[in-house]
Amino acid sequence: MDTTPVWKTNAQEIFFPSLANDITVDVAIVGGGITGITAAYLLSSAGKRVVVLESGKIANGSTGHSTGNLYAPVGNDGLHSLKSKWSEDVMRQVVTSRAEAVDFIEATINELNIECDFKRVPWCLFAEKSGNKSYVEAERKMAEKAGLTISNEVPLNLPVETGFSILNQAQFNPLQYTSSLAQKIQSDNCQVYDFTKVTNVKEGETCTVETNGGTVTASQVIMATHTPKGIYLVHTSMEPYREYAVAVILNSDYPPPGIFWNMLSTQHYSLRTYDTPDGRMLIVIGESHKVGTREWNNECFQKLEGFLRRKFDVASIEYKWSAQQYRSSDGLPHIGISTGNKKTYIATGFAADGLTYGTLAAMIISDQILERENKWSNTYKAGRLTPVASFTNFVKENVSVGFHLVKDHLTKKEAEQFDQVRSKEGKIMTVDGKKCAVHRDEEGNLHVVSAICTHLGCVVHWNWNEQSWDCPCHGSRFTVDGEVIEGPAIASLKKITITTESR
Ligand code: FES
Repeated sequence: MDTTPVWKTNAQEIFFPSLANDITVDVAIVGGGITGITAAYLLSSAGKRVVVLESGKIANGSTGHSTGNLYAPVGNDGLHSLKSKWSEDVMRQVVTSRAEAVDFIEATINELNIECDFKRVPWCLFAEKSGNKSYVEAERKMAEKAGLTISNEVPLNLPVETGFSILNQAQFNPLQYTSSLAQKIQSDNCQVYDFTKVTNVKEGETCTVETNGGTVTASQVIMATHTPKGIYLVHTSMEPYREYAVAVILNSDYPPPGIFWNMLSTQHYSLRTYDTPDGRMLIVIGESHKVGTREWNNECFQKLEGFLRRKFDVASIEYKWSAQQYRSSDGLPHIGISTGNKKTYIATGFAADGLTYGTLAAMIISDQILERENKWSNTYKAGRLTPVASFTNFVKENVSVGFHLVKDHLTKKEAEQFDQVRSKEGKIMTVDGKKCAVHRDEEGNLHVVSAICTHLGCVVHWNWNEQSWDCPCHGSRFTVDGEVIEGPAIASLKKITITTESR
């Protein structure tokens, strides 16, 4: 299935070189999404020599697969959950800091003249008759307490039972913004590299970042990879999720510009429009689930499609894509120096709110590296210990990781013989005593790799839609030939040669 996001229609493809020699810089940034590129912009503007090392194409990872929505409130459990886990003061700090990050994006767009369809729009939360009305009411109260400007109108032609709008939030094309920003800051002092895969990071007197194209020596490293690459304590309190998006052309009228969150009984669907050269499109996002827990995930797209067809007159389905997110157990991102490190900064736990949090993380970490005060540093401190705020989710997540680690190793076997793996399928098999991940492509060729995730040893699961091997423990994802797509794993899954006897 083609999983190209709609943002590519308006974003001109921008090419960056790949690293091909050893270099020395002040700051090495691993990851070229919105966090990494914003940090590179801030640090290089302040005179630091910076390099950005992106394993794929700049902005084409989580950033280029995101929603393009920018807002001060938060998704998933909402502001009322932050208040109960933390305090009203922390909830307000989150709203204020996120609003500052959105303002920063707008100012950057204006200053550098970046074309990315940025506009200010309302963010609307509502429930229909069978929806979660109590969630909406709890969030309305929090939005008022946080001092946000709200209206009780939801300008949407659906049977809204209850809802409200927060004015002056924003939308843009995240791929276009981030790749254009990277192009504008590219210079001798700010080197941006595509297809430069980090293979090892060592922190000592100086930091050494090894890549497939050369070694970078740096005073500090920023892990701007959505979840840090390698083994970090923070992985134990992070839940990896995938979420799905569908973009359609309608026969009927479109909703007005805005971010519309429809609170269903157990989750929310997010709606927005976007103008492309092929016409206006309506996008719906939702159906999140833990990574590696739903092999037949085509059903997620079907549910989103079904929702759109019930509510609107759909002419055609144009785009389908999905993206990953990491939810922290205490509800706040972890931003700053990682526990046990002195020179390595991390930024993770953004949940579904990554464009705004990614920008905020870049602002905080840049200030920390430049030894400037940042009023939000403490709120999002990476190495915090929060036994009360995170207890329930921490236990749940680690029981889940332990469950997969033990049960999958003992029992996961989905085929006995290679001919039981049909075209486009992936199955776990034992081959010559080894647990293997076996895929058959559409031409009938077998791809066999070790099923043991190179991060911390869980067994990978098949993702049918994206034809990838996904690890349910901390969200690493691999191609059918074992290459890392995303997540904390650095090394590829080991290729397995099949002997004639094992066939
Ligand atoms: Fe951690 Fe696979 S991602 S074990």
